[in-house]
Amino acid sequence: MDLTIRSLVPADVSAIDAIVRANRHVFSEEECKTAVEMVEEALAKPNDPDPYQYRIAEAGGRVVGFACFGTIALTQGAFDLYWIAIDPSHHGRSAGRVLLEACEKAIAGQGGRLIVAETSSRKEYDRTRRFYERTVSYETAAWIRDFYKPGDDKVIYVKYLQVKEPR
Ligand SMILES: CC(C)(COP(=O)(O)OP(=O)(O)OC[C@H]1O[C@@H](n2cnc3c(N)ncnc32)[C@H](O)[C@@H]1OP(=O)(O)O)[C@@H](O)C(=O)NCCC(=O)NCCS
Repeated sequence: MDLTIRSLVPADVSAIDAIVRANRHVFSEEECKTAVEMVEEALAKPNDPDPYQYRIAEAGGRVVGFACFGTIALTQGAFDLYWIAIDPSHHGRSAGRVLLEACEKAIAGQGGRLIVAETSSRKEYDRTRRFYERTVSYETAAWIRDFYKPGDDKVIYVKYLQVKEPR
């Protein structure tokens, strides 16, 4: 697949809305709304010194995925991966891996040391967990039983980035 990774432009809002809604098997209505609110906030504050940062995956001139990350307050170089989602028509074709690698590179370039990604233990997220564990080799750092609701645990993944020592 011919994939291009680029930064966010205002016209991406509707594509991001469509991608989260196309993934309604994992995202709730509230999560879909939050995803759109966050991208609108990022676009409304172009001079924010610590913004939500986006990377957009495009294939054949069409937006097929997006990821959003940002610093974790009160840490030195820890970043949160808030969102990663690929249009289901492109699942399993490496777009997620390529997009996440682009985020990792950007985070490392900003002095990031580690990336935290959270997901759920629900069956609907089996493939997502496989993606983190096998495809991109994130470490399972914590598993909080019954976190979201009884029977729905929170799974916390982490990746430590290679930080180049300053000479
Ligand atoms: C998780 C996600 C971002 C992965 O992106 P992707 O482009 O489908 O994944 P890649 O093609 O780079 O990697 C393929 C691997 O991802 C996993 N995977 C996750 N969802 C998959 C799907 N729907 N179809 C195929 N593989 C999927 C598999 O483990 C696969 O490896 P395998 O072929 O060895 O089984 C994407 O499937 C997605 O948007 N899922 C729904 C939203 C979501 O769960 N986001 C994360 C929220 S915490």
